[in-house]
Amino acid sequence: MRAMQDTLQDKSTGHDALTGRPVISATGLFTPEESISNEELVASFNEYVERFNAANADAITAGDVEALAPSSTEFIEKASGIKARHVMSKDPILNPDIMTPRWEERGNDEHSMMAEIGVIAARQALERAGRDAGDVDAVLCAASNMERAYPAMAIEIQQALGIDGFGFDMNVACSSATFGIQTAADYIRGGNAKSVLVVSPEITSGHLNWRDRDSHFIFGDVATAVLVEDAAIAPEAHWEILGTKLKTVFSNNIRNNFGFLNRAVPENAGNADKLFVQEGRKVFKEVVPMVAQMIIDESARLGLDPTLLRRLWLHQANAGMNRLIAQRVLGHEANDDESPTVLDTYGNTSSAGSIIAFHKHSDDLGANDTGLICSFGAGYSAGTVFVRKT
Ligand code: COA
Repeated sequence: MRAMQDTLQDKSTGHDALTGRPVISATGLFTPEESISNEELVASFNEYVERFNAANADAITAGDVEALAPSSTEFIEKASGIKARHVMSKDPILNPDIMTPRWEERGNDEHSMMAEIGVIAARQALERAGRDAGDVDAVLCAASNMERAYPAMAIEIQQALGIDGFGFDMNVACSSATFGIQTAADYIRGGNAKSVLVVSPEITSGHLNWRDRDSHFIFGDVATAVLVEDAAIAPEAHWEILGTKLKTVFSNNIRNNFGFLNRAVPENAGNADKLFVQEGRKVFKEVVPMVAQMIIDESARLGLDPTLLRRLWLHQANAGMNRLIAQRVLGHEANDDESPTVLDTYGNTSSAGSIIAFHKHSDDLGANDTGLICSFGAGYSAGTVFVRKT
């Protein structure tokens, strides 16, 4: 490892500096303009339920069809902490005849949607770091769905930003961003790159079943970017990456069967299992202890006292899960300052959630404050990134 930490001319200061130490130089965030409140969402869902039950009244009375139950804003807020979510295509989602986002298919000469919003977030991260795109070596597009099979979204983003290097896509569902950060950090540690963009465009509205009462309120759209760099070239104000840890354990409790092989099975097209489905209760019960233990074990490995972590930027899936995980890690009930949430306005944005929390709630911390970016989700998958402000 020491061999990799040879000295290098610092591009910004001209000084020699150690290399091989990964840091977060800056983050970027794209938030769609449109937003759907719980009230709007539930009104449209309940209109759909009424229409369905009226259209199927005879079959429901005969016991051949099950009546649909209405949704409620009180349930949504209490069960999840979500009050609203941003989306890329509001009207069709709220139209009880459609209830899915719709957009024009784009031509090959236009930027795809994921690349477009990923580039906006990436540009912001570069600007905040004072970094020229020409100095970036690699782009990882780390997200829970890719808009197409190939060419990789990351390569389109790389081209749009004018980066001379390489890019590839990676999908680890809600943990994609932290898995991307560790991958980027490993490129730095290994000396294969000095500046890596981890971009997470999450258009989750496209894989959510807006007609499913159990989950129609969960997701929102967004894009984030994290610039992971070698300390030697990073801007003066940055976050040292103290350690990263990844874990996966197979589970069917969060699943989406959409895939290119489904095309050969026409009768399956449009089935609900080709969208997001979950056993929410089981996820809650199984993931909370797994993640809390992982954080505690990783803290010990890094010689950190978890109860002294200044802030936890946890995956934003559910307020209750975060409350429990934070309590187990910190040893007391966390307040908003210790474990900030963005669930109320963004909903669950899959892999982008913990990065939004970090982006919006990290400027106020002081030098040497230590915190944790942590994701968890389908797979199961979980990732921790311990950081310290310089
Ligand atoms: N409106 C009103 N009531 C609803 C409802 C809705 N939209 N959806 C479900 N309910 C009802 C259910 O019918 C059930 O009623 P019953 O007790 O009479 O049977 C009750 O609310 C509880 O349902 P349940 O699904 O068990 O809710 P929950 O308390 O487990 O909360 C989740 C649901 C999804 C919010 C919760 O399980 C969760 O957050 N799990 C983890 C999810 C997660 O993080 N997934 C990762 C995705 S990346």
